Amino acid sequence: MSYENIIAEVKEQVSYITINRPKQLNALNKQTIQELSSAFKEADENDDVRAIIVTGSGEKAFVAGADIKEFADFDITQGKELAAAGQEKLFNLVENLSTPTIAAVNGFALGGGLELAMSCHIRVASDNAKLGLPEVSLGVIPGYGGTQRLAQLVGKGKAMEMVMTAGMITAEEALQWGLVNHVTFTSELLSKAEEIAKAIKRNSPVAIGKAIEAINAGYIDGVNGYNVEIEQFGLAFGTEDFKEGTTAFMEKRKAQFPGR
Ligand code: CAA
Repeated sequence: MSYENIIAEVKEQVSYITINRPKQLNALNKQTIQELSSAFKEADENDDVRAIIVTGSGEKAFVAGADIKEFADFDITQGKELAAAGQEKLFNLVENLSTPTIAAVNGFALGGGLELAMSCHIRVASDNAKLGLPEVSLGVIPGYGGTQRLAQLVGKGKAMEMVMTAGMITAEEALQWGLVNHVTFTSELLSKAEEIAKAIKRNSPVAIGKAIEAINAGYIDGVNGYNVEIEQFGLAFGTEDFKEGTTAFMEKRKAQFPGR
């Protein structure tokens, strides 16, 4: 599929999705959210893709937030619709993909930008990255899951501080707080994300999808994560990947997972 605001390509079993509105610091307007949603779905449905790396184009920003110019004159109903549609189409979708997603945060990750990074399974940041949820400085609050995912990742106290001050933290602080998994020099950002993708590619994609489901289950109200783990653990025994993984171990060779 061809896109206007993003670039999507697959190389060596990795899908690269680049948000490409550098003049607007890759701000997420409606069309970009729709295109991202389609690209993530397309990558997840492609059996050849074993990991997805999402980044921003240009040297300044991953994503500087939802497009403020687009919602500046919205009313209450339109505001609710914006958050609900975005969460459903993109942010919840990304979090629940069975293909591992890695955010390569190459600069500002603000508002909807940090929310997109937080929806991904893993985050790597360049040392010039600045992260924050500045929505209250605009008289609004994070609407793409930020109030929930930030508290899950850094704890309630730090989430309260970040949201209430609308401040930005550095990549190093984000690392200390557990908001990102790794910090690299800017020039090494993509190769760090690729190194993680490479390690992931050696393992069973079916088992990884089940593990993502089990981990996420612990964060859903009313769902018992331990029970989901038991269920997914059991189901893994019925897969070709399990047969291949255990056989390869006993035959002292590297597993070649069929992904079924
Ligand atoms: N929406 C729309 N346009 C944006 C944008 C955004 N979130 N962020 C930056 N831009 C645009 C600017 O308007 C500017 O465009 P023009 O040249 O046409 O004026 C261009 O990108 C470059 O930005 P700046 O000139 O402001 O660059 P800077 O280096 O001086 O500042 C910045 C960089 C600190 C990131 C600043 O751009 C900024 O504060 N951006 C807004 C950040 C923000 O508030 N994000 C939260 C959005 S609300 C949200 O995300 C809601 C939600 O949860 C659903």
